[in-house]
Amino acid sequence: MHPLFEQRWSPRWLDADAEVPDESLRAMLDAARWAPSYGNTQPARYLVGRKGDSTYERIFETLSRRNQNWAHTAAVLMLGVAITVNAKGELPLYEYGLALATENLVLQAVDEGLVAHQMGGFNAEAARILFELPLEAKPIVAIAVGKLGDRNTIPDDLRDRELAPRKRLPLSDIAFTGEWGTPVFPEQPPA
Ligand SMILES: Cc1cc2nc3c(=O)[nH]c(=O)nc-3n(C[C@H](O)[C@H](O)[C@H](O)COP(=O)(O)O)c2cc1C
Repeated sequence: MHPLFEQRWSPRWLDADAEVPDESLRAMLDAARWAPSYGNTQPARYLVGRKGDSTYERIFETLSRRNQNWAHTAAVLMLGVAITVNAKGELPLYEYGLALATENLVLQAVDEGLVAHQMGGFNAEAARILFELPLEAKPIVAIAVGKLGDRNTIPDDLRDRELAPRKRLPLSDIAFTGEWGTPVFPEQPPA
């Protein structure tokens, strides 16, 4: 597996003083731009705020309290927005398209030495109003971007969760062949 996949994670303790260089931000958005999409319809759009500007403030305002508690340490806040219709009608799979673009963006962030943490916990209606979004623009995800903070800065109430081992389903639970539920790669018995 490519090391980028292992290195990507969603920490909640970023370095509040770190900046995201413009070249890194541009590379991340370019990575998103090159994502595949249904019929090359390219539904992904991003609102990008840097700490201290009004875009950042507005995105921050839409975040749930739980997310505000840690995301204020992010140097950059983004809002991933999907375009849902074009001249031919509703775009098929627009949400899937935004997700593919956003995973590209996140992995590019990791390659830039940054972390990027996606958040569903935000108020999409508030975002619609604060940014005067057109009807066809649907806010889907917020993203906190920055540098990983110092371990000593992890807030006490998050420490256990942040330092717990990350878990995933075994391969035998997610990839089947022949019949539904029959693993393509059965778990190896321990040696
Ligand atoms: C669509 C989506 C929405 C998420 N929403 C939140 C959120 O609102 N707040 C949060 O702290 N983490 C959020 N996460 C992060 C997930 O909790 C995290 O990706 C998951 O636990 C796996 O951990 P990892 O990213 O460190 O591998 C979200 C992730 C995704 C992909």
